[in-house]
Amino acid sequence: MKIIVYGAHDDEIPYMTQWQATTGHTLEIHQELLDDTTIDWAAGFDGINVLQTTPYSQTMFAKMAALGIRFLTIRNVGTDNIDLAAAQAHGIRIANVPAYSPNAIAEFAVTATLHLLRRLGEVEAKLAASDYQAATAFLGRELAQQTVGVVGAGRIGRAAIKLFHGFGAKVLAYDPHPVQDDSLACEYVELDELFAQADVIDLHIPGIAANDHIIGAAELAKMKPNALLINTARGNLIDTQALLHALEHQQLGGAGIDTYERESANLLTLKETGRFEDPTWDRLRAMPNVVLTPHIAYLTETAVQNMVEFSLNYLIEFLTVGATETEVHPR
Ligand code: NAD
Ligand code: COI
Repeated sequence: MKIIVYGAHDDEIPYMTQWQATTGHTLEIHQELLDDTTIDWAAGFDGINVLQTTPYSQTMFAKMAALGIRFLTIRNVGTDNIDLAAAQAHGIRIANVPAYSPNAIAEFAVTATLHLLRRLGEVEAKLAASDYQAATAFLGRELAQQTVGVVGAGRIGRAAIKLFHGFGAKVLAYDPHPVQDDSLACEYVELDELFAQADVIDLHIPGIAANDHIIGAAELAKMKPNALLINTARGNLIDTQALLHALEHQQLGGAGIDTYERESANLLTLKETGRFEDPTWDRLRAMPNVVLTPHIAYLTETAVQNMVEFSLNYLIEFLTVGATETEVHPR
């Protein structure tokens, strides 16, 4: 089969090359994203494989259908940036990789939590100013003494619950559709109770429209003033202006943000200008009680190898037997 790959990251390319050599299929690898203009490159290919968080447009799906290409697999989990109904209307079938390594993201959420609990950003800021005395004055908190509230007990949320429990924390969870899992050591509570009780609030829910700004000023006001908010899920879940206000007015203890609200726009600006043109990002970056990372919670060897190999295998299943178990359907 001939497959065109878009959005290839440097660290994915060796796994792509290896998959090609092992399977005998042909890959044409592009680092550019899939959009209305780059879709034309797919003429003559059997299927498309992509990694991106920017939207897939209606026009792109129409052009894809006109090229006679029906199957697209994405190398990531989140499908929030895809208009699945538009894809379906054009006869395009899509599969994601729902579990390339839930632990990768869950471990990152724990990493951000520990960093904030031990106040390492504040320590580093003092060391950067050569104030060694002040750097020794930040009393930390121990994870084992904290109550962690996990919002969204799906694959990643459940991995996070296990890790936090392993550290000795009391774990609360909220999910309107909890999966039966007797090995999970957590107590399911209503969201308001989770906000009121948790010292750490850890989000693992999809960035679909229904979850847009699920954390705004009203929700932040329900949290403890020293609570930590961790978001490795999607940027649109948090009203960033409300978060900034809460942090600047000591209404929140700190935040770990791997998925930033205007991430896509920012990344596009970065490509064009070589820098993030976003004062809100700069203000968050300057706060020692904020861990801000550029959407890297997934970025481990295991996850990258799996996202490449699984998504290409799903595409081959689509192309050879007409189905794959990870096909996604309109919400
Ligand atoms: P999943 O589908 O297995 O689980 C999501 C869970 O969230 C489901 O159980 C669902 O019932 C629940 N949910 C949905 N809306 C909710 C709400 N409003 N309140 C409480 N629970 C709600 O998904 P997953 O594999 O756990 O992934 C979660 C998200 O993590 C993905 O959608 C993606 O956006 C994000 N993600 C981020 C990275 C990263 O590198 N930062 C990597 C992979 C995935
Ligand atoms: C996902 O898999 O959904 C992610 O968020 C990671 C990715 C976009 C690299």
